[in-house]
Amino acid sequence: LQHLLSIEGLPVEIVRHILDTAEPFVSVAEREVKKVPLLRGKAIFNLFFEPSTRTRTTFEIAAKRLSADVINLNISASSQSKGETLLDTVDNLAAMQADMFIVRHAQSGAAHLIARHVAPHIHVVNAGDGRHAHPTQGLLDVFTIRKFKKEFTNLRVAIVGDVMHSRVARSQIHALNILGVPEVRVIAPKTLLPTGVEQLGVHVYNDMTKGLKDVDVVIMLRLQNERMRGALLPSAQEYFKYYGLTAEKLAYAKPDAIVMHPGPMNRGVEIDSTVADGAQSVILPQVTYGIAVRMAVMSILVGAGS
Ligand code: CP
Repeated sequence: LQHLLSIEGLPVEIVRHILDTAEPFVSVAEREVKKVPLLRGKAIFNLFFEPSTRTRTTFEIAAKRLSADVINLNISASSQSKGETLLDTVDNLAAMQADMFIVRHAQSGAAHLIARHVAPHIHVVNAGDGRHAHPTQGLLDVFTIRKFKKEFTNLRVAIVGDVMHSRVARSQIHALNILGVPEVRVIAPKTLLPTGVEQLGVHVYNDMTKGLKDVDVVIMLRLQNERMRGALLPSAQEYFKYYGLTAEKLAYAKPDAIVMHPGPMNRGVEIDSTVADGAQSVILPQVTYGIAVRMAVMSILVGAGS
């Protein structure tokens, strides 16, 4: 694996290898073990052209715990603001002996563009491109599911909310399909479902209580207002009434169902605080496991290239 740009099309062996590699890194993510020297001397550049709390920070922590040097480019203070192109910025950072670029960008395909452009010894990880893909999020989500549910082949998983604008949902659906989850449901109003979503191999529900019936995993999504230019938005109250996860709606899922959310969460819009902070929520463990999964991805990429 030279780059990680998307989960779509990855062989199941590679997905399982990433999850298995992440397993021992959980002790590093949880700080039982402080650091490992696997990426000593490597320079990892975080290029986040869109806001991020979890992804940028956990990539930085993951790289530091692998003993790499981490450089966070401050985009608003960079020469991008003076008109430098994306690829000129990348060329200049490559001239500073970068080994890996972690890229988040509002344009779908931005990480692919950089991956095609850079020299073969440089690795690129897509940290979210437009509404296309967020592969490490999809991987940390299936890692979390495996931690709590052990197996994939007996699960019903529901993804609820703004699937249309969600790169996270796409990556989750590809990962769940690759790992053999027999039933992946998406639950959303028709206006928040992409045309032809069934072709991704999912079962579509517009009614949340019907869609949640007997599921093992509930994944909530944020309304991604920043990607809804010109669309007719539901009010937060109206959306919450029909698609917000409350304790009453969660009762339709299996009693031991887990509740996930990639963050950032909008409490009172897609999820009620009683559920977000409740006993079935694994939302914060997802963040911790994100460190382990990102350590796995970076160490596998650098291992492949060295
Ligand atoms: N889940 C996720 O990508 O969160 P951030 O936008 O905070 O990185």
